[in-house]
Amino acid sequence: MTTSIRSREHAEAPGALRETWSSRLAFILAATGAAVGLGSIWKFPYITGMNGGGWFVLVYIFFIVVIAVPIMIAEILLGRMSRSTPVGAFRSLTHAHSPWLTVGWLGVVSSFLILSYYSVVAGWTLHYAVLSAFNVFAGLNPEQITAQFQSMYASPTINLIWHAVIMSLTVLAVLGGVKSGIERWNSILMPLLLLMMVVLFGKALSSTGFLEALDFVFGPHSERITGRGVLEALGHSFFTLSIGVGCMITYGSYLAKDESVVKNSLAIAGFDTLISLLSCLIVFPIIFTFGLKPDAGPGLVFVSLPIALSKMTGGGLWGLTFFLLLAIAALASAISLLEVVAAHFVDEYHWSRKRAALISGLTVFAFGIPSALSGGTRLFGTDFSHLTGHVLGASQSRNWFDTIDYLASNYLLTLSSLGVALFLAWRVGEASTYPNFAPGGGSRRLFRLWLLTLKYVVPLAVVMVFLNLVGLI
Ligand code: PHE
Repeated sequence: MTTSIRSREHAEAPGALRETWSSRLAFILAATGAAVGLGSIWKFPYITGMNGGGWFVLVYIFFIVVIAVPIMIAEILLGRMSRSTPVGAFRSLTHAHSPWLTVGWLGVVSSFLILSYYSVVAGWTLHYAVLSAFNVFAGLNPEQITAQFQSMYASPTINLIWHAVIMSLTVLAVLGGVKSGIERWNSILMPLLLLMMVVLFGKALSSTGFLEALDFVFGPHSERITGRGVLEALGHSFFTLSIGVGCMITYGSYLAKDESVVKNSLAIAGFDTLISLLSCLIVFPIIFTFGLKPDAGPGLVFVSLPIALSKMTGGGLWGLTFFLLLAIAALASAISLLEVVAAHFVDEYHWSRKRAALISGLTVFAFGIPSALSGGTRLFGTDFSHLTGHVLGASQSRNWFDTIDYLASNYLLTLSSLGVALFLAWRVGEASTYPNFAPGGGSRRLFRLWLLTLKYVVPLAVVMVFLNLVGLI
């Protein structure tokens, strides 16, 4: 394998035959599609609710600007400079046996792991879209709606079928390649997402709970945010911008040389933040209108929201729009995750795109089966509890699904982000990075500020996250 890579490097300039995005907009749509997902529309509202709104949102925006965007710039740059997927990116800027390659591997493995359970939750959103379409919530009381979520979570059949549907759609998109696959799918999915968002926001605007929601999300409340809340905001800023999983490296590798990475990154982060805030302003008005609590946790969207919908006229249609929106956002993110894995095989082992997409998709599907079965342990009469129970030395209360999520989205993602920041700032260095940072010669001061952030601020932030994870702060 090493020889084939070496000879390829000699035979052609890296990335000479590489597909590129057809326009700046195409890249922004695809990268925004990667960023906007379950994290922005499902998780952000519920962690905002659990952390009391106001201050939490402010702290989150601060981290997006000061920590996450600089890392995103670093990843896109790394991809564009090397014109390679993560492992190749580190190899082309060092050598074939450099320990830095581990950072690239971390990205590919994280994408694989995250997609395996992300697809299961994405499946829930499709299931809930169908339930809404049949107006199922209308006839149920809150206890029944809660029980319905639990029974879906526990049903192997429902979870496996939707997991398969999401993975098949994802493979279909990745099969087509950069232009006629990822780009084309996102050019349909993203405008649709925006349109649905606007319609739902219009509806929320006219609800009686809107002002209360506005105050909750933006108002400076007297209760202070906890240290744990601050670190949760930091961790989420990584996940929501899809950094630390090789995704922005891969998408950046298809970006034209003359594009401004800084401007594009700001646009992507801006869109993602806008959608996250809008999601809060869609979910909370409904929650408050029906007198429900904002701190319901992960059940906010799958339990509290349907309870509100059950009391609302036209709740079925509203629910259908909301859950489809969520499914679309999740699908675009799933596509970016599979692309990292599939493109790795195309670049590293010269597999055809078709083969890479199919085999990666199937493997992710198989690896996601225990996650799909995590809520229930019996399938066709067979007990799977040994598979889904407490693995990898996880704590008593963590099943396979939670364990993979915990490992990938906390440890691997932050480690890989740290690796990218350290690599560019300390190893690649100023002289090689600056011409790529600002192709036409841009502000040196901005560049230095960014480099300083990567050198000192990002490592400090990551250390804090780790200390919190291991319970030291
Ligand atoms: N950013 C996506 C979200 O908010 C999740 C994701 C993480 C997607 C990493 C791709 C890579 O849901």
